[in-house]
Amino acid sequence: MKYTKELEITKKAAIEASKIITEYAERTSFSIELKGKNDLITDADVASENKIIEILTEAFPEDAILAEESSQRTELPSGRVWIIDPIDGTTNFAHGFPAYCVSIALWDNKSPKVALVLEVAKQELFTALEGEGAYLNGKSIHVSGNNDPSASLIGTGFPYRDLHLVDDYLKLFKRLMEKTHGVRRPGTAAWDLCNVACGRFEGFYEYGLSAWDVAAGSLIIKEAGGVVTDWRGESDWLFGKRIIAGNEAVHAFLGKEIRQCFSQQDLTH
Ligand code: IPD
Repeated sequence: MKYTKELEITKKAAIEASKIITEYAERTSFSIELKGKNDLITDADVASENKIIEILTEAFPEDAILAEESSQRTELPSGRVWIIDPIDGTTNFAHGFPAYCVSIALWDNKSPKVALVLEVAKQELFTALEGEGAYLNGKSIHVSGNNDPSASLIGTGFPYRDLHLVDDYLKLFKRLMEKTHGVRRPGTAAWDLCNVACGRFEGFYEYGLSAWDVAAGSLIIKEAGGVVTDWRGESDWLFGKRIIAGNEAVHAFLGKEIRQCFSQQDLTH
């Protein structure tokens, strides 16, 4: 199977990173700094990222790296690139709220090949290889078979930089409260996507995400039979900040609701 070695090394890197994150969590004293408004970084993010990069570069020295804390890019190089979020859900981690994960993906020629999301507090390991299905702790997973939006559970995240969007976000939120079973905001987009992949959420949407938040979870959803697009229903979601994911029916429902609530300008990158 292609990329098997890459998946094994990815697992090793994520498990080592998870041990580091757990040690910091148990210590409960670590430095927390602000990269921007409500955008936190802790010692644990840096230590986790360093360990992941060390393990990946030792095994694959030629590959490029796009990592949240050290090597940001705004587009993908043409060859192989590892896209890393050393702690997705840093705010949860910093507050001791147990929902945070390591997210690692390998993209090759602008297409996702290997994906791993390890939710550290619950030790839920989600993996996928292109064309080989998606797994949670080794068991095959699939998106929800519930196609009825009125009986769906939706995940989201709130924007914290582009606050001019808040009114439209609230308009959408009100519609979803009326039309679904409810909306949840766990605070870790990579894990939110995995919650769609294993059928806990029928759909997910968010504005303001970065490539490292979505690079792995999106392949896990696709391999679990789901759909991922930007807010226009197109493919500019990796760097386009706006994502919709879900089973086919609820993805279509969310797209329609979003496009009715936001201006044309706010739907576009
Ligand atoms: C954050 C989480 C959160 C989302 C934020 C992201 P980080 O990632 O995914 O759920 O709402 O937009 O920035 O900063 O903890 O890696």
